[in-house]
Amino acid sequence: MKALICQQFGPINALRLENIPAPVLTSSQVRIEVKAASINFPDALIVQGLYQVRPTLPFSPGAELAGTITELGSDVTGWKIGDRVMTCTDYGAFAEQCVVTADLLVALPSSMTFTQGAAFVLTYGTSLHALKDRARLKAGETVLILGAAGGVGLAAIEIAKKLGARVIAAASSQEKIDLCRRVGANDVINYSREDFKDRVKTLSNNQGVDVVCDPVGGEGSETALRCLAWRGRFLVVGFASGVIPKIPLNLTLLKERQILGVYWGDAIKRDPMSHKANMQLLTTWFEQGHIRPVVSEQIRLDQAAEAIERIASRKVMGKIVVNFDV
Ligand SMILES: NC(=O)c1ccc[n+]([C@@H]2O[C@H](COP(=O)([O-])OP(=O)(O)OC[C@H]3O[C@@H](n4cnc5c(N)ncnc54)[C@H](OP(=O)(O)O)[C@@H]3O)[C@@H](O)[C@H]2O)c1
Repeated sequence: MKALICQQFGPINALRLENIPAPVLTSSQVRIEVKAASINFPDALIVQGLYQVRPTLPFSPGAELAGTITELGSDVTGWKIGDRVMTCTDYGAFAEQCVVTADLLVALPSSMTFTQGAAFVLTYGTSLHALKDRARLKAGETVLILGAAGGVGLAAIEIAKKLGARVIAAASSQEKIDLCRRVGANDVINYSREDFKDRVKTLSNNQGVDVVCDPVGGEGSETALRCLAWRGRFLVVGFASGVIPKIPLNLTLLKERQILGVYWGDAIKRDPMSHKANMQLLTTWFEQGHIRPVVSEQIRLDQAAEAIERIASRKVMGKIVVNFDV
């Protein structure tokens, strides 16, 4: 089968398209003929050896995919050959075939394309887990989303709106904040031009926000933490900026703020039933038209390495999806 292969941890441009044997199926897994797989920020980290997961070399990156089941492991029940599914894995999705644990499969709604499915599970799953399970976001609260035009950020805007919250979306360019508005943000901040602490103060009548969703890290994290109201919650989602901030803890004491870690990839393995329930909720919202992945570009597998480089250099809005049928 054809696959994008990482032979050594190192630069993203060392990834090569190769013909390799299909992966071996274990009893708890299914084999999927991959129809579409999306690019995510962690793809850039994993191939450089900078991610919390370090696969045995060589391996194919790619964490979010949709396709058709072609083979079932001997212990797998509840699925059949030909089922249209979407799922998430640590790596292996930038290949014509991928084997994944059956526990984490999600049936693709009939109205969802493979392209949309490949841009759904990880970003929406993460944002729902963060906002609902970790921050317990309530209707009427205000949430500030950083890196809001990225994959996690855009999903967070839609989910926060669906949960009844008011959304302030923050991003680094006019093009990005325009997209956030189109996706439903109530207010926007261009943090490359505006002082976002002042803007949040103005937008919240000096009260601050109830929740911050931060997939970016860097120096903006502390500023955003300072924007939290009394008993506000700060969601640590990721460090796309490449900088893990060190936070003065007095900022939590002063307003009884909480800093909450979010590790969706582990949470779904520890509690697959909650993951199932969250995916049920998300697919229902999709079918009702409340949420819709922003697929900014569709590419071929031989263009995936270049797309991973672009996501690592802040040049992507929404999701880029690799289509295997083109
Ligand atoms: N905790 C979890 O369970 C979990 C799950 C999924 C993803 N994540 C993490 O969440 C983060 C965001 O993921 P994503 O899929 O939303 O990524 P994305 O689509 O690339 O968006 C990340 C955003 O971060 C901002 N950014 C600031 N500095 C950057 C830099 N130096 N390079 C790249 N982006 C930069 C960019 O927005 P601006 O240009 O507007 O600043 C960009 O849109 C990643 O660190 C990822 O590993 C965590």
